[in-house]
This record gives sequence, C-alpha cells and structure tokens, in this order.
Amino acid sequence: MGKVLVLYDSRTGNTKLMAEYVAEGARLVESAEVRLRHISEADGQDLLWADGVAVGSPTHMGQPSWQMKKWWDECGVWGQADGRLGAVFSSEGGHAGGAMMTCLSLLLILMNFGILVLGVTDYAYYCYTLHYGATTVRQPRVEGDIAACRELGRRLALAVRAGHINLREDHETGPAMHSEKPADWS
Ligand SMILES: Cc1cc2nc3c(=O)[nH]c(=O)nc-3n(C[C@H](O)[C@H](O)[C@H](O)COP(=O)(O)O)c2cc1C
Repeated sequence: MGKVLVLYDSRTGNTKLMAEYVAEGARLVESAEVRLRHISEADGQDLLWADGVAVGSPTHMGQPSWQMKKWWDECGVWGQADGRLGAVFSSEGGHAGGAMMTCLSLLLILMNFGILVLGVTDYAYYCYTLHYGATTVRQPRVEGDIAACRELGRRLALAVRAGHINLREDHETGPAMHSEKPADWS
C-alpha cells in the first residue's frame, strides 16, 4: 500500500516543475511508490494502479486546460476509482489569476470519479496554505512555493499509507442495486 500517481499537464513547464516537487514530497514517505506522468504518458490504468493521485494543471482562463479535462473525459475508468485519495495543484500567470478556481474544478472532477479529496489545514510554509491544493505564480521558484508542492505530495502519500478504501467493491451491494428501474428510464 502506498502508490501515488502525480498526473499533470503543462504547456510551458511550470506545472511540470510543480509536479516534480510534488513527487519529491511523496517520495519522502517511506514505502511510497511514485509515478510521475504527463497526461500524454498516462492512461486510466495508471489511475487504477494508484492508491492516491495528485493532479496538476496550468490555469487556462480560470480553469484546467482542455487537455486535462479531455484526459478525464476519455480515461475510461469512471466508476472504478471510487475511494482512492486525491489532491490538486495549479500554476497561474499572475496572483489571483484563477489557480484556486482551477484547483476547485480539478477537485470537482476527482469527486465525480468518487475520489476522496484531501484538504490540508496547517501551513506548508510561512504564508503558504494548501487548503484546496497548491498554487504558484508561474514556476515554483521561492522556498514557499517549493515547500507547498512538496508538502502536498508528502501529505497525500501519508494519507495513502494510512489506507484508501476501495469503494468500487460497494457498487455490487449498494442501494442502487436494489432499487427498481422506472419503465421510462433511459
Ligand atoms: C490559453 C491560456 C490561458 C491562460 N489563462 C490564464 C488565466 O486565466 N489566469 C492566469 O493567471 N494565467 C493564465 N495563463 C497563464 C498560465 O496559467 C501560466 O503561464 C502558467 O504558469 C502556465 O503553466 P505551464 O507552464 O505548466 O503551462 C494562461 C495561459 C494560456 C496558454
């Protein structure tokens, strides 16, 4: 137990560098096995391999990149990842450029997949919180940015080590299996 996928998109390398620090933080946890993957190198099986996933995207118009959204649209494992753990991060062009909104959008995607999302209440560094995910302006270059990315990965790996719940198994026995399908349901 302890597999972490760091899945990212990046057009100009800034989110990629964040992802590398997130992966570095996850590796600080003993026994963590970490896969660092650009979306072009990953498929749904990588998601199913992982107990926890950290997802990062550049902020594009206050949203994740369309390529990141497409990856989730097409990964083909919706309904199979329930109970895994997730956390998010984003790079933006300037302060208040929407990275937090990108994080929230990414969290919505994870929730839609049944992934349990991780909030972090304490500070990663002076003036740096990770309540909804890690954000940086352009590339992480100052200590606080780097500490935030590393801490996101470390926390996720710690939570994963504590154990994710495989809620997929519950599909077979959950209440939906026993409800009657209406005649006009399509
Ligand atoms: C199509 C596009 C839309 C963008 N929209 C925003 C935005 O809404 N807010 C912002 O702060 N930066 C915006 N940016 C800038 C990127 O978020 C920023 O440069 C980021 O660091 C890029 O990360 P990357 O190097 O991983 O691609 C946009 C960039 C592109 C290419």
